[in-house]
Amino acid sequence: MEKSNGLQVILFPLPIQGCINPMLQLAKILHSRGFSITVIHTRFNAPKASSHPLFTFLEIPDGLSETETRTDDKTFLFTLLNRRCETPFRDCLAKLLVSSDSETEEKKQRISCLIHDSGWTFTPSVTKSLKLPRLVLSTYTVSFFLHHFALPKLRREVSQDSEQDDLVQDFPPLREKDLVRLLEEKREYLEPYLHMMLEATKSSSGIIFMSCEELNQDSLPKAREDLKVPIFAIGPSYSNFPASSGSLFTQDETCIPWLDKQEDKSVIYVSFGSLVTMTGAELIEIAYGLRNSGQPFLLAVRVGLVKGTEWIEVIPEELKAKLDEKGKIVKWAPQQEVLKHRAIGGFLTHNGWNSVVESVCEGVPMICLPFIWDQFLNARLVSDVWRVGLHLEHRIERNEIESSIRSLFFGNEGEAIRERMKLLKEKVGRSVKENGSAYRSLERLVDQISSF
Ligand code: UDX
Repeated sequence: MEKSNGLQVILFPLPIQGCINPMLQLAKILHSRGFSITVIHTRFNAPKASSHPLFTFLEIPDGLSETETRTDDKTFLFTLLNRRCETPFRDCLAKLLVSSDSETEEKKQRISCLIHDSGWTFTPSVTKSLKLPRLVLSTYTVSFFLHHFALPKLRREVSQDSEQDDLVQDFPPLREKDLVRLLEEKREYLEPYLHMMLEATKSSSGIIFMSCEELNQDSLPKAREDLKVPIFAIGPSYSNFPASSGSLFTQDETCIPWLDKQEDKSVIYVSFGSLVTMTGAELIEIAYGLRNSGQPFLLAVRVGLVKGTEWIEVIPEELKAKLDEKGKIVKWAPQQEVLKHRAIGGFLTHNGWNSVVESVCEGVPMICLPFIWDQFLNARLVSDVWRVGLHLEHRIERNEIESSIRSLFFGNEGEAIRERMKLLKEKVGRSVKENGSAYRSLERLVDQISSF
């Protein structure tokens, strides 16, 4: 940490893995700039305080039952969280403000602002009554954040005659077939929830993206125009500030010595993040595809990935034995370390935004298999806009998976993808270095927080 600047920032992440990692990354960045950090978090999916001894963690009750935490409808979960956390959050924040005021001069850490996940929608009235400035962190890419407010309208207007491959006019670079899949997901309360999220963003002092101009050229100017608040695209800084310490799952470190034994750029890493679920039949197709490709593979199967099962018991014993010859299966990988490893040559991914950015930062080409929500748009950025990956077009079939791996590792298209990925990685890397666009954006953010 730089010398303390006497200012304290309060962070409030949404309790899912893909949102905790970027918030803790932001915490590390701000701490390195002299801010002291307090994280207010729910009891559900509480981050491990012991992994961050330099930050203060304060837990608030969320009132969620076991059954409620297991719902598939994320908007319902977030709506419940917003309803139940408002009072405990307000009490916690008010207490913090009072105790910060009563500190002696030398111990004083003035609370400068609250930075909360864009998914917390009750925050405007709380910070307004407590007279505390408020910034928003979005864990989505800029284009998804900007356009997803149009989803209720698109749901009403979804056209049956449009061509599957057509771009969705109000949601580029999403295609019609992606939109159809995206809207299949059960999301009750979507319209009021998005409305509150948009209002909370527009009334904030600014919005932060862990992304940069180089990855959002088309959408940043429009976001500035539409949202009318300062936008800070402070860039992905995984190499300086790894997010792995935010892991809610136990990482299986044994995959690193296993990767050490593999040849350079020979292994395909496969992972589907923290939310996606699939059927047993789909996992079996993926397993056959990996096995038949002949490439060594590292497959992360999260407990709960295949609903109603313990772990990988749906894979027949005979296939399991064959998989062990060339592959390794773990429950949760230290993903950023894995992607950094010299043995990794490709990433078969669900295209969560964190996974996509981590892959770009390490220059690993992707095979896209999005399942839900923003993943469809992220996948189109990878395959159609940056052209640094292949797209499986949701064909979860062993032959498709096998041939996409072969194309990525040995085909001409794979060669071209690797070349483009190398350039993209360099471009993004430059962005976070001194005078790069993300670097400058971070400077502006630090100035803004210091000026509150
Ligand atoms: C979800 C959405 O998909 C994402 O786009 C959104 O912005 C946040 O919520 P998730 O599905 O968990 O997140 O995917 P992703 O955004 O890729 O985040 C997963 C995180 O877990 C990554 O930081 C990744 O490094 C980590 N991870 C994943 C592991 O450390 N080990 C694993 O085995 C798998």
